[in-house]
Amino acid sequence: MSRVLNAIVAVCPDFGIGKNGTLPWHPINLRNEMKHFQTMTQTSPVEGKQNVVIMGRKTWFSIPENHRPLRNRINIVLSRQYKAPPTGAHYLAADFSSAIRLVETKLSDQADQIWVIGGNSVYKEMMEEPGTKRLLVTRIMKQFDCDTYFPPITPDKFRLLPQFPGVSMELQEEQGVQYRYEVYESIEN
Ligand SMILES: NC(=O)c1ccc[n+]([C@@H]2O[C@H](COP(=O)([O-])OP(=O)(O)OC[C@H]3O[C@@H](n4cnc5c(N)ncnc54)[C@H](OP(=O)(O)O)[C@@H]3O)[C@@H](O)[C@H]2O)c1
Repeated sequence: MSRVLNAIVAVCPDFGIGKNGTLPWHPINLRNEMKHFQTMTQTSPVEGKQNVVIMGRKTWFSIPENHRPLRNRINIVLSRQYKAPPTGAHYLAADFSSAIRLVETKLSDQADQIWVIGGNSVYKEMMEEPGTKRLLVTRIMKQFDCDTYFPPITPDKFRLLPQFPGVSMELQEEQGVQYRYEVYESIEN
């Protein structure tokens, strides 16, 4: 596979990403962090193409209804039980490789970057795929109660990049919550 696989996530210190079907820090709204998510997943430098977001069924329903589908992006939802995309989603895939195949075949002329946006098992599958993977991780520096987690990022498989275009490496703070952006890239073996 030629396309880089990108994942984007915001994690608590214990790598928690969710609680009760929403974000662990809910109802705190980290607006700039959310803007970072929108900018990174939406921006395609290729005229006339859109990026693809791939997500599990629960992540789809964790997005407020008025924000679904994520605009200016091709939304693919993964489900083993659904027979048709949930209302508003563009495509349904029964497994991760079918989603990638869909992008590489039917959508190849209209799709640019691939962004995996959660949850747990979808991130895990993406990280185990062959080829180049990039992880855009927001490290939230405050612990909230979590029930869903990001898979471990191991130094034998991923290295932390010293910088990345469009991503600030400065300490961020909003709503009394500090966080940092990190970008990891897979190590080719
Ligand atoms: N902090 C963050 O950046 C972030 C990002 C994303 C999500 N979240 C949070 O994480 C939670 C949701 O994540 P989650 O891990 O619980 O669920 P999820 O991965 O979003 O959804 C799980 C469901 O997706 C489907 N699915 C997953 N992998 C599949 C595969 N390989 N093939 C086919 N279907 C697949 C299955 O649906 P069926 O049961 O329909 O078969 C599965 O039950 C929420 O709390 C959300 O707010 C946080």
